[in-house]
Amino acid sequence: MTRVLSFINLKGGVAKTTTAVQLADTLAFMGQKHVLVLDLDPQTNATLALIGEDRWARADEEGQTLAHLFLDLLHGTRRFDAGTAIVKGASNLNRVPPEVIAQLPSGSRYGRVDVLPSSIRLIDVQDRMQDISARTHYSVSPMDVVRQRLAPLFGQYDYVLIDCPPNLGFITQNGLEVSDHYLIPTIPDRLSTYGIGQIAARVGELRRARHLKLRCLGVVITKYQGTSTQHRQGLARLPGDLHRAFADTGEDAPILRTVMPQTNASAEAMSHERAVASYRDKYGSGQVGGQAAYKYGLDLADEVEALLAAAAPVAP
Ligand SMILES: Nc1ncnc2c1ncn2[C@@H]1O[C@H](COP(=O)(O)OP(=O)(O)O)[C@@H](O)[C@H]1O
Ligand SMILES: [Mg+2]
Repeated sequence: MTRVLSFINLKGGVAKTTTAVQLADTLAFMGQKHVLVLDLDPQTNATLALIGEDRWARADEEGQTLAHLFLDLLHGTRRFDAGTAIVKGASNLNRVPPEVIAQLPSGSRYGRVDVLPSSIRLIDVQDRMQDISARTHYSVSPMDVVRQRLAPLFGQYDYVLIDCPPNLGFITQNGLEVSDHYLIPTIPDRLSTYGIGQIAARVGELRRARHLKLRCLGVVITKYQGTSTQHRQGLARLPGDLHRAFADTGEDAPILRTVMPQTNASAEAMSHERAVASYRDKYGSGQVGGQAAYKYGLDLADEVEALLAAAAPVAP
């Protein structure tokens, strides 16, 4: 069964992308899962981290990024083809060449991350779609683009991870429409946690209005600095903040046990061009908070898998 998980926070710089990419790497290369990363953020960071600039530039030139998916809607064209657009065998941890992937029987078990790349052109799309509610002449409802054109491909994957821009605009909403769950990465400081109440309320509204099955999987603390008083106090305050934020939505947003520490390796891991020998090498083996840095990624993947497995299917 495919699990679809979105990463959202109204704040940028809280490690949405880093967490999504590390989780994709961990599930694929440490857990032998098939993972699809959907990059819905015009910043294109997940795309660049997973396939680098050259492969991204090719996809953009060929009109095969998620921006083109939405541009097709605006222009009434059909240039974007999801099957062609999916970049197979992404990540600098991948050791299976794309041409070999193409030859493997579809049921082969080996870890793999595929990406549907983003493009900076999504900014344009977002701007031009501001007045979508006033328009009725699209062949596909603007909110249903991802569901109609991409979701049919999700069945080939164990996990689909959706990296969202730091807003709840219509592109993010397209991702939420097809998600079973969303995860809120946050640094445990005031500015990063400030918008969580707004996320809870807006997503709750969207869920009711659109009859979605979407639920909050939880909040994951990122870039944690154990030596920072602000972070320690923020972490202590968070359960109360979350309780208030979700009080009206009828759901619980647990704080994940795994706290992702601030490390140089995590920051450097987003550079696709950096040659890495192994998962451990990529996410760091230096000690932080009592264990090797890379082990937090393993813990996070275990915890997310367990939470997803335990989440009962819900009626919308
Ligand atoms: N655990 C971490 N330790 C140190 N730096 C990190 C960590 N996670 C993310 N970063 C850095 O923080 C910045 C923001 O992360 P990013 O994942 O791009 O955030 P977002 O997607 O929420 O905007 C990036 O420069 C990234 O390399
Ligand atoms: Mg990002």
